[in-house]
Amino acid sequence: MPLLLALETSCDETAAAVIDQDRCVLSNIVATQHTLHERFGGVVPEIASRAHVERVLPVIDEALKNAGTSLGELTAIAVATQPGLVGSLLVGLTAAKSLAWALNIPLLAINHVAAHLYACRLSAGADAFPCVGFVVSGGHTHLYDCQSPVEFQLLGATIDDAAGEAFDKVGQILGLDYPGGPLIEALACNGNPQAVALPRSFLHDPQLKFSFSGLKTAVLYATRGTPGSREIPPPLTDQRRADIAASFQAAAIDILIRKCEQALVQTGRNTLCVGGGVAANSVFRVALQELCTRRDIRLIIAPREFCTDNAAMGAIGWELYERGLFAPLDADVTPGLMR
Ligand code: KG4
Ligand code: ZN
Repeated sequence: MPLLLALETSCDETAAAVIDQDRCVLSNIVATQHTLHERFGGVVPEIASRAHVERVLPVIDEALKNAGTSLGELTAIAVATQPGLVGSLLVGLTAAKSLAWALNIPLLAINHVAAHLYACRLSAGADAFPCVGFVVSGGHTHLYDCQSPVEFQLLGATIDDAAGEAFDKVGQILGLDYPGGPLIEALACNGNPQAVALPRSFLHDPQLKFSFSGLKTAVLYATRGTPGSREIPPPLTDQRRADIAASFQAAAIDILIRKCEQALVQTGRNTLCVGGGVAANSVFRVALQELCTRRDIRLIIAPREFCTDNAAMGAIGWELYERGLFAPLDADVTPGLMR
């Protein structure tokens, strides 16, 4: 069976996976850098690229070993070339180009956002497309009309923070480690989602736009008090922190679900694919299921282990391979987002 080696270094995860042409994931290695960035409360690009340089070859070695294969057996190399941090992307692309050249096999340039949606294909089988695609991660809150795995039209996106970024910033406000998303989810389990009234931007606006910065600021004020106000906020007990986390999570999910619903109505699509780190959130997954049951929509959420950044979703490389969409060896990275 032909084998694809996929690499992912677009942000702060160094990842490699081996996937066969049936889209079966034979190995999936992810080296996270969370401990390196934790004390800065977010990803520091220069630290990320240096860590990728150190890790990329051992991660590739491990992926090949776990799949029980070797470089000589590979059919093609896929690598995320956009969007992402320029230095980080360059490390993966340079490694992939070197291998493709040395092994004389095709190089495939992957779009990281499209790959997040393709993670849904890994759980659903061949017929995940056409669909409305919703990528909800640390860098993106983007709705797409997807005709196929490689043909997308942007329907709407955030005008400020991405949803995952808002989780991370609220985590920071509440004194949690980075990344805050999974920790907010855990903290919210003990909180009351109605305890703190928080804004839901654009909820009743027909435009497919997201904004999370007002919500984040409202959380800051609920935690530390409103500047210029004499009103003292309630003491930040464990219960209050849990209530704030739960109220924030509920507000963020309300916004995500509402816009998703609008995108489904607008496009008339009857399949919804959801990927990206925030799609690992259980409360969000349940809310998506409720929406899709109510609207009779087929829901495909990426498997949890393929929500946060990984290289298995680089299986989308096979779609490029099968269409003959090979990248030249002088291919470059594109840090900006596809439109
Ligand atoms: O997809 P991803 O690994 O990276 C990007 O492409 O951005 O997503 C990472 C984001 C982080 O912001 C993280 O806090 C968030 O996904 N995240 C979550 C959960 N797990 C990860 N947010 C909410 N709940 C979770 N369980
Ligand atoms: Zn990502």
